Amino acid sequence: MRGGRTTVEFKEVNWKSLKRLVPYLTAYKGRLFFAVLCLVAAKVASVGLPFVLKAIVDQLNTPNQDLLVIVPLALLVAYGLVRFSNVLFGQLRDTIFGRVTEGAMHRIGHSVFQHLHALDLAYHLNRRTGGVSRDIERGVTGISFLMRFMVFNIVPTFLEIGMIIVLLLLNYSPWFALIVFASVVLYVGFSVVATEWRTNFVRQMNAAESQSSTRAVDSLLNFETVKYFNNEAYEADRYDEDLEEWEQARRRNRLSMFGLNGGQALIIAIAISSSMILAAYQVREGSMTIGDFVLINALMMQIFVPLNFLGFVYREMKGSMANIDAMFALLKVKSSIQDDPNAKELRIIDGHIEFRNVAFSYQTERQILSQVNFSVESKQKLAIVGSSGSGKSTIMKLLFRFYDLDSGQILIDGQDISRVSQYSLRKAISVVPQEAVLFNGSIFDNIQYGDVNASKEEVWEAIQMAYLDDFISQLPDGANTHVGERGLKLSGGEKQRVAIARAILKKPSIMIFDEATSSLDSQAEQRILQAMERVRGAYTSVVIAHRLSTIVDADNIVVLEEGEIVEQGTHHELLMQKGHYANLWAIQDNSYR
Ligand SMILES: Nc1ncnc2c1ncn2[C@@H]1O[C@H](COP(=O)(O)OP(=O)(O)OP(=O)(O)O)[C@@H](O)[C@H]1O
Ligand SMILES: [Mg+2]
Repeated sequence: MRGGRTTVEFKEVNWKSLKRLVPYLTAYKGRLFFAVLCLVAAKVASVGLPFVLKAIVDQLNTPNQDLLVIVPLALLVAYGLVRFSNVLFGQLRDTIFGRVTEGAMHRIGHSVFQHLHALDLAYHLNRRTGGVSRDIERGVTGISFLMRFMVFNIVPTFLEIGMIIVLLLLNYSPWFALIVFASVVLYVGFSVVATEWRTNFVRQMNAAESQSSTRAVDSLLNFETVKYFNNEAYEADRYDEDLEEWEQARRRNRLSMFGLNGGQALIIAIAISSSMILAAYQVREGSMTIGDFVLINALMMQIFVPLNFLGFVYREMKGSMANIDAMFALLKVKSSIQDDPNAKELRIIDGHIEFRNVAFSYQTERQILSQVNFSVESKQKLAIVGSSGSGKSTIMKLLFRFYDLDSGQILIDGQDISRVSQYSLRKAISVVPQEAVLFNGSIFDNIQYGDVNASKEEVWEAIQMAYLDDFISQLPDGANTHVGERGLKLSGGEKQRVAIARAILKKPSIMIFDEATSSLDSQAEQRILQAMERVRGAYTSVVIAHRLSTIVDADNIVVLEEGEIVEQGTHHELLMQKGHYANLWAIQDNSYR
């Protein structure tokens, strides 16, 4: 396996999403059981209601007026009680089940986040932050919706319909049961077919929404660049195009919704009137009482009120499932950098690094490194120089195992880094990257990030080592100064020193500086070099540098050209060779004067 080949599977919306939620439901067996109990109790009460109503109407309607007033009164009280218990059990069910939904949302959100951080660099370089965060947000909301409506709507509705059909069959002409059954089947069938047809519009709408928010986030993140190039209007135009598309998609979505709702209303109307006509006819005939007529009416209303929601719920459920699928698709993305099944912990003895015949390419079509061989003795300083794009930062990324090699081996203290756990490998290495990026927090927090368990004293020690204390003491808020998004409120050199302090705090065995002094003036550079010198004995260091003056003292200098090592040796050896390095030195040496 190698970097850059991350697989993403996109599937049609499927009902399997429901199955994936089962483990989250069964995690709360007790609660689930009580919620279902309350659900059944609530539905029994609600189906019983029309029957009480019928008894009341029939009582009131009897010509025999000497009957005790007490009977209808008792019935009326019973009616109130049944109605109350219906609401009560419904509320109880919601309350009990709420925990289950929230628990599931919490756990799924957490595992997706964890999974995203476990993915390889290649994935993160290709993903779009705005899109991914929307996917997670919508997926988690979808889960809550799906669970709530499964328990609160779908299951109870069908339970109720079942009970009503049985009661109708037992008490009245089979025609009523038939009308209910046929209309429910027709209604559900129509809703499903129409909703299927609409799914495409919903998906288009989501895609348009995702697209516009990705673009908005990207554009806002690059606000500086936008200003450098006076492209505010261009950005706004592009966003406008996205919004236009989004608007169109929403319009199509709304029109199709109109068709669905209209059809559903028609089916309901036909079912209610035909059953009412039948009931009226039977009352005339004398085979049914007025109470029965009221009962049938009440039952029909009762069925179709939740069924009316069913259309909406089915639609939303489909939408939710599409969202949940999109989120689970994130979980299906596999990192192309995996721990070996028998991965051991990296055992650091003295931090010896060896590159053995390393070849690497990001894409097969373009070789980046080939035949790279070098080694760094324990606690020594290796410098890598070479023209821009020659593969210096790539070497750093390979050592950190952001990507796997095409061939060859990288060994640390004799252990192949692809055979040890990524965690133990990365624990041993600190990187000061070429472009330090900081979190949107205080300077102190950003440095402490190097070791979140470090004490205040340790953080200050690292601050001093990186010569940051002078700068910090000038700030009104000191180390609590906020650095802004991605650290943009600090100068390039300050940001780099924060990154150095953070790397030092990690207390690594191997330290990599990728152009760590590139944005510093000569004076600041000297201080950084002093800082590096100060801790030099503590670890093996790899220094990538353009400015050769910073690496004169290196124990070994590797000159990289187009991914191949063309020269290797100490500063003096390389000068003697009068090759690439000597040339570079001559140019820079002149330019510094
Ligand atoms: N993720 C990536 N996918 C594809 N190609 C990449 C990727 N990262 C870097 N490259 C390419 O690999 C080559 C080497 O890049 P690298 O960053 O190692 O250069 P470098 O020597 O550090 O250059 P510089 O001195 O400018 O920092 C470049 O041509 C670059 O375009
Ligand atoms: Mg680089």
